[in-house]
Amino acid sequence: MMIKTNRLILRSWQKEDLLLFAELNADPRVMEYFPSIKSFAESLKEYETIQEHFSNHGYGWWAVSENDKTNFIGFLGLRYIDFPASFTPAVEIAWRLAYDHWGKGYATEGALASLEYGFKELKLKEIISFTSAPNFRSQAVMTVLGCTIIPEMISTIQNYLKGIH
Ligand SMILES: CC(C)(COP(=O)(O)OP(=O)(O)OC[C@H]1O[C@@H](n2cnc3c(N)ncnc32)[C@H](O)[C@@H]1OP(=O)(O)O)[C@@H](O)C(=O)NCCC(=O)NCCS
Repeated sequence: MMIKTNRLILRSWQKEDLLLFAELNADPRVMEYFPSIKSFAESLKEYETIQEHFSNHGYGWWAVSENDKTNFIGFLGLRYIDFPASFTPAVEIAWRLAYDHWGKGYATEGALASLEYGFKELKLKEIISFTSAPNFRSQAVMTVLGCTIIPEMISTIQNYLKGIH
């Protein structure tokens, strides 16, 4: 399964993507709002978790390439979450792109296509997103997508993020 937009392809992951994924996760600019950059072992674990999610749910965080190339430039997509909170279980939309591909509108373009897939194909009623308070670039994507803020999410998410990263 593959989602095409004007400039992007959201696709299943290839083994070759792993090295570039690890590179992206080791870039302090990309990981600024995460507790730390990730080691190769941590990226491998995350890669495996992403594959497992696809096996369990049939959708997930798709690998992203520009549509005229096969390059891996990050991921975008949907993930089922069920940690204890008033807004879970839910499906979240998330994004992480290589620094060289910021500022082109790629995150928004891919996110819109992911939302369309989630609402039309998966027939989801709601898709949520969350990020840390100072991550304005991520919040800007959410704003463009038309997200509405759920105030009680904020403290729960802060605790959750401390736990998973
Ligand atoms: C969050 C993240 C994906 C946002 O990427 P982004 O490139 O800023 O987001 P967009 O794709 O929406 O691009 C918007 C920018 O592209 C510009 N742009 C250029 N061409 C564009 C086009 N054709 N269409 C739309 N925007 C365009 C916009 O003007 C805007 O520029 P600005 O940053 O100067 O305001 C990226 O910063 C990232 O990967 N961060 C690290 C990981 C992370 O924090 N993920 C979220 C964790 S919860």
